[in-house]
Amino acid sequence: MPLLITGGRLITATDDYVADIYCAGETISRIEPAIDRASLPPGTDVVDAAGKYVFPGFIDPHVHIYLPFMGTLAADDYASASRAALAGGTTTLIEMICPGPADEPWEAFELWRSKAQGLAAVDYTFHMSVVRFEERVRDQFRKIVGAGVASFKVFLAYKGALNLSDEHLFAAMKLARELGVIVTAHCENADAIDALQKSLLAAGHTGPEWHGPSRPPAVEADGVHHLCTFAELLGTHVYTVHTSCDPAVRAALAARYRGVNVWIESVIPHFVLDETYAAQPEFAGAKYVMSPPLRAKANQEVLWHGVKSRAISTVATDHAPFSFRGQKEMGRAAFTQIPNGIPSVQERIDLLHTYGVCAERIDLHALVDAGSTQAARLFGLYPRKGTIRIGSDADLVVYDPAFRGTFTKAASHSKVDYNAYEGWQRIGRPSVVTVRGAIQARDGQFVGTEGRGQFLAREPTH
Ligand code: URP
Ligand code: ZN
Ligand code: ZN
Repeated sequence: MPLLITGGRLITATDDYVADIYCAGETISRIEPAIDRASLPPGTDVVDAAGKYVFPGFIDPHVHIYLPFMGTLAADDYASASRAALAGGTTTLIEMICPGPADEPWEAFELWRSKAQGLAAVDYTFHMSVVRFEERVRDQFRKIVGAGVASFKVFLAYKGALNLSDEHLFAAMKLARELGVIVTAHCENADAIDALQKSLLAAGHTGPEWHGPSRPPAVEADGVHHLCTFAELLGTHVYTVHTSCDPAVRAALAARYRGVNVWIESVIPHFVLDETYAAQPEFAGAKYVMSPPLRAKANQEVLWHGVKSRAISTVATDHAPFSFRGQKEMGRAAFTQIPNGIPSVQERIDLLHTYGVCAERIDLHALVDAGSTQAARLFGLYPRKGTIRIGSDADLVVYDPAFRGTFTKAASHSKVDYNAYEGWQRIGRPSVVTVRGAIQARDGQFVGTEGRGQFLAREPTH
């Protein structure tokens, strides 16, 4: 059905103006100060956006939905994750494909893709994890890139599981350079963490509050530096995921200063939660165990300044959904067994608005840039996604900045049994969310079509 959005304040990474938007089909057809309704076909759906912002659909470039990890399986599927994303204004997800070292990469790609088909209500694409790289699998990675997955993921962390040896890391980054593929990377030194974990457990430090001390900022900064050294040697373009602290941001910026093509992602939990949450009594801190861990509060201002100054390109979520009952509880005897992750796909944009824009830490343009535009640019989706212009996909978020409420588990669509931001004040919410011209969510409720989401094939752009 054709769609007209009237009188909204259109906010992109660079522009701010009032206009009407008309979408005859899946893309934006017209943007004009006042579109005459008489010129539109009968049955056009009209959304009154007066007094509201209209943002480009938000892109979350780092989520986990199907994730076998730490002896369990992430709690969401594409139906629940899509609903959560849409309720929070996110219209495109980039999921990490995370196979085990013994799995065949092409089979993993097909498996992950099958999990989205028929269930996704948002558009989606993937980063392909390289957890093993031998000559034998080289052609499979070429084929995966040819199928439209133009980004790799590597883990410098998780010894004995997803961690890639230096030999394989170098070879994978070399192939990425040849193919023009950007390498996204979890940067923490796996061996240092392993040694620290062992000595903490041996000293009887088993609770979730010890997760942070087992992975201090220096361990992350070392990982960033290591990745950037390989990038410097090879010319590969790299992207540090969930960059959490001042030393890690500095390591990336130092590399950028010497000419390395490195971009920085941070994730919303690190902007608003600090290390004290993981120290909550009676094992409640387990809800706040993620990697890299929540940091000392002083790091939060560094991240906000990074977004404001554009030193940090994107704010993602690293949505990794594990329930407290039965999943986080697997680590009651040892923090090393707590599945890592803090689900946030529904809350990201409202948190950025409430604690970023309304607290005057960032402006609306930085919100759009870090929440949508930069992800589209870096991962080959721009200008189809990430902006509001004629010809772009009609992924639009009509956002009500006057809404007042709180974050609650009751309102969340994720299958996880807790909300990390329970009871927190919330300013603003998406009123209407469209994906390629179809209204998929209204006022936090899913009103769309399951399975309508499309796989986004991407070309290498680096
Ligand atoms: O704690 C996290 N980040 N869990 C998900 C896996 C990863 O490292 O991204
Ligand atoms: Zn990670
Ligand atoms: Zn992740």
